Amino acid sequence: MSMKRTPSEAALSKGNPKETLSLYRLLDPQVLANPYPLYHRLRTEDPVHWDPFLHAWVVTRYRDVVHVLHYFSANRTPTPEQLSAMGLSALNPVAQVMVRQMLFLDAPAHTRLRGLASVAFTPRRVERLRGHIQEIVDGLLDRVVHAGRADVIADLAEPMPAIVTAELMGVPVADHGQLKSWSADFAEMLGNFQHNPDRIPRVLRSVENMTAYFRSAIREQREHPRDGLIHALMTAEVEGSRLTEEEVIANVIVTMVGGQETTTNLIGNGVLSLLRNPDQLQKLREDSSLIPSAVEELLRYESPSQHTARLAPDDVELGGRRIPKRQAVIAVVGAANRDPERFPDPDRLDITRQDNRHVAFGWAAHFCFGAPLARIEGQIAFETILRRLPNLALEPQPLVWRHNLGLRGLAALPVVFGDKPPAANPITPPTP
Ligand code: HEM
Repeated sequence: MSMKRTPSEAALSKGNPKETLSLYRLLDPQVLANPYPLYHRLRTEDPVHWDPFLHAWVVTRYRDVVHVLHYFSANRTPTPEQLSAMGLSALNPVAQVMVRQMLFLDAPAHTRLRGLASVAFTPRRVERLRGHIQEIVDGLLDRVVHAGRADVIADLAEPMPAIVTAELMGVPVADHGQLKSWSADFAEMLGNFQHNPDRIPRVLRSVENMTAYFRSAIREQREHPRDGLIHALMTAEVEGSRLTEEEVIANVIVTMVGGQETTTNLIGNGVLSLLRNPDQLQKLREDSSLIPSAVEELLRYESPSQHTARLAPDDVELGGRRIPKRQAVIAVVGAANRDPERFPDPDRLDITRQDNRHVAFGWAAHFCFGAPLARIEGQIAFETILRRLPNLALEPQPLVWRHNLGLRGLAALPVVFGDKPPAANPITPPTP
């Protein structure tokens, strides 16, 4: 969460607007639709860039992003004092939850929390969800398959991870719409640089409601345990250490949010990328054993989460620049994943790409906790879409990207499909 105010367009446009090197250019819908030329400029002209609008360093080369994720501090939630100084003390209850979430902690507090959570989130638990995920995807596609058209986002990419999340947590699946809406509110705040004061009451209400929801789930499960992450976190124990009720709630929330918006974007961005690259789509249809490697490439090519933040642990040197202790650094994983020094021909989608160690799930201690589950969800979704929706094509209408600068995803993805091949593929050309 960054609390910077949006700079005025005039400030951004000083001189030639095209020349302004700032991640804030993502507010321009054209740049949001295709941020890769901006990333390219940042990487080549100023790879460790001081952004005066964000008051943060912006890092775009693969090797620097990996370095930042490895060595810099994740402990970046504003303290109540900092919030008050910015006139944002209304957000204190949100910060109170965030300071207990593993995503915003350094070792040893992070190691303890992650260790306890890992005891609860075992490979067996994830594997057990696999069969359910196939049923969920099939059930959702059953509703649209005869219509010959669908919105990939509303009909599959949003409800699928929400239902999986409910199952994973061990709360009623009927609540998945509610989980989705809370998670969207939280993600809007996490994914955007600019702080929107009009949204404060909604975010606060949302955090209050989800905290109350999970608190009552915990209390109920003390009497009537249900299989799932909530109960597993309540009872996890490592060397005599257990999570407090507040820690369980905070980390259930981060897992719930982390698991929804990103997976929605993986499916939406992935289907779009395949439709824009018909040769790759065809190759995948012909050989479904390529699905796991295709998922990795789609994660690299249109990363669902484009950047994350850290603080400099000390006064440090990076890429020849001196970064003072505790200054903010934005690690742009979406740019690192297109770095030609690491990925040959990075702007080409190649579902057979070898040596594809992308940073879409982050790196090192905070490497995505849900990556094994996200991979399974992606693999099942793409395999089932290709098998059940023949002759898939985009509806000829402009694409709208969600106004979230960090979590890259489409607002809608209308497609047509069916037995008859579409007359012409009305798709836009591949992104450069
Ligand atoms: C395609 C889907 C996903 C993507 C692209 C993604 C991406 C990421 C990234 C980049 C990070 C590291 C952030 C940082 O270092 O600041 C992260 C961490 C995390 N993710 Fe995911 N994620 C996905 C799915 C999931 C799922 C399904 C879950 C849970 C079920 C999940 C839960 C988490 C949690 C709890 C963390 C924090 C880990 C820690 O701080 O130790 N994510 N994710």
